[in-house]
Amino acid sequence: MMRLFVGIEMPAEFQARLAPIMTGLPGARWVAPENLHLTLRFIGEVDEHDAAILDEALSQIQRPPFELQVTGCGIFAQRHGPEAVWLGVASTPPLVDLQAAIERAAVRAGNAPEEKRFRPHVTLARLKDTPQPRLQSFVAGHNLLKETFLVDHFTLFSSTLRQEGSAYAIETTYPLTQEG
Ligand code: 2AM
Repeated sequence: MMRLFVGIEMPAEFQARLAPIMTGLPGARWVAPENLHLTLRFIGEVDEHDAAILDEALSQIQRPPFELQVTGCGIFAQRHGPEAVWLGVASTPPLVDLQAAIERAAVRAGNAPEEKRFRPHVTLARLKDTPQPRLQSFVAGHNLLKETFLVDHFTLFSSTLRQEGSAYAIETTYPLTQEG
């Protein structure tokens, strides 16, 4: 069995730019910079057979490369308090179109449809008991952050749960090409 999700990797230069800001927030479990990603579709635990069917469905997606716009900073909160801090990603037509194509491929491969609305984001840290004022100043301090980069592939990741945080591995990449 493997735990899979489909997403977009952050370029190494952007990881390097973010690494220094990912600090100084009490109660934060920071994502390792090399693990920063945008999730397009969480799949969950599947066996090798279902993983192969998913891979086949994903490999049929043909779309052109596009610019991804990372913009602003925000939090997800539940009733018990803030859960995660993230960078926003603009819901531009090519991103929404690619995500929809991946969703259809996942369903065609036998996965249940995703019920949650797609809210594109790059999680920076998961939070526990982070003091509100510290969180507010972090968000205010990074809300003007902007980065645009070309996306020329998407990625099937596997995730291994570990005590010190999930470790992600690239299983397969799928090119986005002009002929798409
Ligand atoms: P997150 O960044 O908002 O936490 C791997 O776990 C990736 O899949 C994470 O980026 C996570 O999003 C996303 N994901 C989406 N739905 C998930 C779920 N039900 N369980 C775990 N991760 C999920």
